[in-house]
Amino acid sequence: MSDQNQLSVIILAAGKGTRMASPLPKVLHPVAGVPMISRVVNSVKSAGAKDIRVVVGYGDKLVKQVVEPMGCGSFKQSQQLGTADAVKSAEIDSLDGTVLIINGDHPLITKDDIQKLWRQHRESQNDLSVVSVKLKNPKKFGRIVRHMGQIKAIVEAKDASHETLKINEVNTGIYFVRADVLQDYLPMIKNHNAQKEYYLTDLVSIAIENQDKVGVIEANRRVAFGVNDQMELAKATSFIYKQNCKKLMQNGVMILDPNNTYIDETVNIGAATVIYPGSFLKGSTNIGTYCVVEPNCYVVNSSIADSVVIHTFSHLEDCLIDKECFIGPYARIRPGSDIKQGAKIGNFVELKKVKFGKGSKASHLTYLGDAEIGEDVNIGCGTITCNYAVDKKKYITKIEDGVFVGSDTQFVAPITVGKNAIIGSGSTITKDVPSEALSVARGKQIIKENYTEKFKKDKKD
Ligand code: UD1
Ligand code: CA
Repeated sequence: MSDQNQLSVIILAAGKGTRMASPLPKVLHPVAGVPMISRVVNSVKSAGAKDIRVVVGYGDKLVKQVVEPMGCGSFKQSQQLGTADAVKSAEIDSLDGTVLIINGDHPLITKDDIQKLWRQHRESQNDLSVVSVKLKNPKKFGRIVRHMGQIKAIVEAKDASHETLKINEVNTGIYFVRADVLQDYLPMIKNHNAQKEYYLTDLVSIAIENQDKVGVIEANRRVAFGVNDQMELAKATSFIYKQNCKKLMQNGVMILDPNNTYIDETVNIGAATVIYPGSFLKGSTNIGTYCVVEPNCYVVNSSIADSVVIHTFSHLEDCLIDKECFIGPYARIRPGSDIKQGAKIGNFVELKKVKFGKGSKASHLTYLGDAEIGEDVNIGCGTITCNYAVDKKKYITKIEDGVFVGSDTQFVAPITVGKNAIIGSGSTITKDVPSEALSVARGKQIIKENYTEKFKKDKKD
């Protein structure tokens, strides 16, 4: 006897998704930044499924590239002849235990949903369980037809009579079935219906005819939410983002407008931090307590300590921001930047791979790349590190503690400026500057008195 506690999964994902009106395979469309299919795979995987088989068809190469690295097998359905044919493509003869069949376009299903349904299925001791929901407007869903309370069949909307269409209990397209039951009955399914398709739903009536135990498990409506067009895709995305906001708000994060705040479920934020609308906070980002993220910031894979202010329109990627820093507005912090306590990065400042010391400031219009800036350094407006040389290599600029850099300075790397040095405004620094020194490197200013009148006269002549 096989172990019915062992769960394998078949995810149906061969369809093109015509109504998406997009060349991208439907299941690769992202819901809150994550492809739908990846969401379904993550949910079944974290619910404990080991053997996950994805049936691919339209755009199979692309779908494969996403699901195989997640540890799934992919199985090609060469022609989309219906859901039963799709399941058949998944080499079901090698399956054992319980098989969960699920659609790849139901991105809102969670690990908890699956664990709960699976528990209910095991408790029911059904050979086949169909997961249903009750909908006010059951639209195109297959209807669950019951007799004396017992399921008798699933009837597709296109094949249903006027009376059957009135049934509001529908098939979610999720089934738990014994592998041997699936193996026995799948070949018996015919395509004698309105769509000339092999309907997986026919498994129900065949199993009943053969005296198997078939039952229905009712689930919440979210489980049945399928994405078929761009409107439904947007709905799913906004559902996930709103849900993420809700969780954070329950932990004391102040989110001014959860309908317009886009935070991945992977992001952690401390209590008493304020998030203004329009921001995207993504990936492995962590934000501490008492921070402020002003409108329209984009933060990905970054670690932000307590009491940091990120002013509006800032873009941060793979960086570390220590406590009490001020960033932006309009700052761009690129990967590998490490900004220490109390530092200030102001408007139109770009940093790439920069160690920026405690209490230092770069307040306006500056590019620093491949640089090490010490503590309490003042970087004047319009400073540029010329880090990229004609040999196509990157060179380091090192500016030690306490240096004052006048505005409009270029550092031609590699270069080191020693402690407490002063750089005169408008300098192009090409040689190292010792500690405590003044360095000015600019054309000397000349003055010619009473010049203008003469210049005009010369021009006329
Ligand atoms: C199916 C069910 C219906 C249920 C609904 C829930 C059948 C016959 N009907 O209908 O009872 O209410 O799901 O959403 O099963 N697919 C393939 N290969 C195919 C056909 C479909 O992989 O040959 C995949 C699709 O990509 C999709 C899923 O199976 O992910 C469902 O297919 P779809 O055509 O959308 O079925 P529905 O008509 O919605
Ligand atoms: Ca569908």
